[in-house]
Amino acid sequence: MHKDLQRILLDESEIRAAIERVAGEVTAEFEGRAFTVVSVLKGSILFVADLIRHIPIQLELAFVGASSYRESTVSGELSIEMLPADGEIEGREILLIDDILDTGRTLSRLSEELHRRGAASVKTCVFLDKPSRRAVAMQADWRCFEVEDEFVVGYGLDYAGRYRNLPFVAVLKPQLLLADGVETAPGLGGRGAR
Ligand code: IMP
Ligand code: MG
Repeated sequence: MHKDLQRILLDESEIRAAIERVAGEVTAEFEGRAFTVVSVLKGSILFVADLIRHIPIQLELAFVGASSYRESTVSGELSIEMLPADGEIEGREILLIDDILDTGRTLSRLSEELHRRGAASVKTCVFLDKPSRRAVAMQADWRCFEVEDEFVVGYGLDYAGRYRNLPFVAVLKPQLLLADGVETAPGLGGRGAR
């Protein structure tokens, strides 16, 4: 796996420090309030698992699954595959967490859907933010790192379903990505769990 990597972008100690900072801010925000962390599968699971260990207040945990269909470099529509039960959302304050905020479509669609299902409020938190790629107006309330427009893997982020288990964030060797954009690379299969 490591032979596919060009360089490490964020190492484990940088990640730990950023998580402690964000966890502190989230704790200060939600202290004394009942809230639910909604983790977007699959990419956010490492981040969520580490983050909530540093949030020493009451919270509940739920999951949502979303896939986006991408033709070439154009982001397609999002399909929501799995939602928490209504009882987990209605009247609850939600902290929606994803691995990366890229075009913004995933988080804006999901927060819309959570509001539609009666969430009292929806705040958002992402591990990485790529503001240069934004296609819809969307800002996260918290983020660990801002990154350049380059495809990264590890710490939950995948390429063609792989590399999620790297404990750091890395840039893949460019020859592994197709010249016309990663979204059309073999193995991504068009529709895939983001
Ligand atoms: P958005 O809806 O365009 O904001 O897309 C967010 C999703 O795109 C994330 O949950 C990731 O699965 C995927 N994504 C965007 N950029 C990257 C990247 O650099 N590496 C891995 N996945 C990415
Ligand atoms: Mg993905």
